[in-house]
Amino acid sequence: MAQDQAFTVTPWEVKGKVDYRRLAEQFGVKLLTEEDVKMIEKLAGDSHHLLRRGFFYAHRGLENIIERIVNRKRWALYTGRGPSADLHLGHILPWMFTKWLCDRFNVELFFEMTDDEKFLVRDLPLEEANRYAYDNALTLIALGFRPDQLHLIIDTEDIRYLYKIAVKVAKCLTLSTVKHTFGFTDSTNVGAAFFPTLQIAVAFLPTELYGEECPVLIPAGIDQDPYFRLARDIADRLGYPKPCTLYCKFVPALTGEEKMSASRPETAIYILDDDNTVKRKIMNALTGGQPTKELQRKLGGNPDVCVVYKYFMAYVEDDSVVSKIYADCKSGNILCGECKKILYEYIVKLLHDIRDRREKARDVIESYRISSKFR
Ligand code: TYM
Repeated sequence: MAQDQAFTVTPWEVKGKVDYRRLAEQFGVKLLTEEDVKMIEKLAGDSHHLLRRGFFYAHRGLENIIERIVNRKRWALYTGRGPSADLHLGHILPWMFTKWLCDRFNVELFFEMTDDEKFLVRDLPLEEANRYAYDNALTLIALGFRPDQLHLIIDTEDIRYLYKIAVKVAKCLTLSTVKHTFGFTDSTNVGAAFFPTLQIAVAFLPTELYGEECPVLIPAGIDQDPYFRLARDIADRLGYPKPCTLYCKFVPALTGEEKMSASRPETAIYILDDDNTVKRKIMNALTGGQPTKELQRKLGGNPDVCVVYKYFMAYVEDDSVVSKIYADCKSGNILCGECKKILYEYIVKLLHDIRDRREKARDVIESYRISSKFR
């Protein structure tokens, strides 16, 4: 849990304008250096826009994974989702990058759907969280993962893979540590207090399943760090390798600086939003533009504070498109309305592609379940 005068970041709440350097300091995670980025690119034989544009910016223990890649030792990827609602564009950002890691390094991904978590910490029936787990999985699969690459774990259904590890984790964590780490109080239900053991358990699962040391690399938004700080603290005691992490910044809300959040629908673009809704939301987004057309032409806008520009950075891979938008905005060559229309075209194309592939995923979802591959 990180609290500052200007911002709050917990796994359940992000508020205010996050100062990412400060947050990294408060969490005690390392900033990704240019050398780190170059090293990953060299080993991958490719570059990813989220890495080279600084979206992924901090880590724990990345050097360990790099050492394993260089020495061709086993490792795996791990990430997840708390299925409490439809997915928005922010959620899929770390997953798009995870897919690239899967392909470039030929590693498997363990993906946890924490339907139990969302039941315990939100006002949501368990059945509904479970239904969202299946629905959100369709979008995940639609990002292009193959069944041999992605092992889907749904907590309430696949608990037998996790429970033995979770009780060992639980015995290493005191109530006071969990309360302090997650900001729980005496009125927090005991299920919520136990839940972190399950998110930590998946980090150790590949080692159990393969019967050999298999550290995980966890690409995720930085709000998830508290779990993995605890996981690293107790790994040695349990005889597991420490999980490593790679954290991204948040895609901002369309209306400003806060994280895009499912609880404020007008500020977020959902994967299932229809084209008109996407258009309306983008057209209402906050920009770094001048108050009038004339001033924009004369003085140019400020892409560095513009939410629309941040979306170009996040979802448009082609550097030449993104740098042209930047230059045209600064010089007053483009007006905000025109720029938003260009973004809209990119975003609806992305959403249409995902939605088409979601439909195909319905028939094959079972082949992604961990139970179809591991005993
Ligand atoms: P959840 O469902 O809150 O979020 C899923 C993933 O999306 C990231 N995220 C964002 N990334 C960029 N911009 C945003 N606006 C944005 N909003 C959300 C989150 O950081 C996360 O990576 N407890 C977890 C589920 C989980 C998990 C994991 C997540 C289980 N095991 C391992 C990461 C890694 C949760 O509720 O995530």
